[in-house]
Amino acid sequence: MTTLYHHQHGGARLNQAAQKSRALLDFSVNISPISPPIGTLSLDTFSLHSYPSIDGRGIKDFYTGKFGFNGDTVLPLNGAIEGIYLLPRALGLRRLLLLSPSFYEYERAGRIAGAEIAFVPLAAENGFQLPSIDLLADALLHADAFVVANPNNPTGTEVPPEIIMALASRFPEKWFILDEAFIQFTPAFPDNSLMGKVMALKNVIVVHSLTKFYALPGLRLGAVIAHPTVIRRLLNYKEPWTVNAIAESVAPLLLECGTYEEELRAMIFSERERITAAFLKIKGIKLAGGAANFFLAQWNGDGPLDVLLSWLTGQQLHVRDCRNFPGLEEDYFRFAIRKPVENDHLLDALQSAMLWSGNLLRTESLVENHTTQSSS
Ligand SMILES: Cc1ncc(COP(=O)(O)O)c(C=O)c1O
Repeated sequence: MTTLYHHQHGGARLNQAAQKSRALLDFSVNISPISPPIGTLSLDTFSLHSYPSIDGRGIKDFYTGKFGFNGDTVLPLNGAIEGIYLLPRALGLRRLLLLSPSFYEYERAGRIAGAEIAFVPLAAENGFQLPSIDLLADALLHADAFVVANPNNPTGTEVPPEIIMALASRFPEKWFILDEAFIQFTPAFPDNSLMGKVMALKNVIVVHSLTKFYALPGLRLGAVIAHPTVIRRLLNYKEPWTVNAIAESVAPLLLECGTYEEELRAMIFSERERITAAFLKIKGIKLAGGAANFFLAQWNGDGPLDVLLSWLTGQQLHVRDCRNFPGLEEDYFRFAIRKPVENDHLLDALQSAMLWSGNLLRTESLVENHTTQSSS
């Protein structure tokens, strides 16, 4: 098979860097900096000698127990990504409307399902906010689905739920697919979530993830929340047993994590404020959206972003280079909100980078000249 739609994510880049240094602090992955108290689980706890439930029942139990949804509105997934790929295929989508920049997998999943892709550009001058409802309605005339993340990754901007609800009522024949992978990191949660609206709006589908908020990327836990008629349609296309036995045993344990959730949200909210305030003093780096547990930022120091990235690597710090996102080519990077002491390391390093960026640049070009000369 060709490498069509091949892509590389932030974690893959770190793996190369991490080979050089094990102690690197990774701000490129936007998952919770603390872990839920699910203890040290031993493999004996899980019945690995028998099949898990065919439909990921443990994950369904989490969503019904936690949010009070009816079981028939929940489709358990092997991470949100399974839903992102299942939906265009199962709904037979022909033309997707996406935000740009956004999470690349929507585009890839749509193209693989044979859909055409149209983009609504988010403008830096407008703080990457959603454009007006009229503009969105116009763009929707030529699409059969709008796929949008709230908050959006990597811009960190929020999508007002009332705009989606208004559009969903206006276009009942079109699908509105909301990716709420980061929504629990927003202060307005649960009021800003559309998970509770799917019974009233049959064309609204929410993809949710337990990866980010519960720091469980290795387990693969998520769900589609939608009207039961939609869930039944998706089930006709979904592979059985995609949720493994360990994942489905761990999901219900998250029901006991209320204190963790409160502590995490309090930490993220206060660190977000502290970081925003600290950036007022870091001239030359501009913060964009920070609605979730990460910030998008633009480097305006001397020289290209590479200067900053190599300085940070030298300080054992890794951020996500965002120049491969359309619209973010001009030296944008993303960093996660981590624990206070870890955020201090990053803030100190960024502050020093600004002070020394001229010198860094000179050092870089000396190194470059030296490398060029020695290899010629
Ligand atoms: C916006 C968004 N949605 C979904 C995912 C994937 O979530 P999961 O790990 O649950 O598949 C990511 C991962 O980076 C993401 O950024």
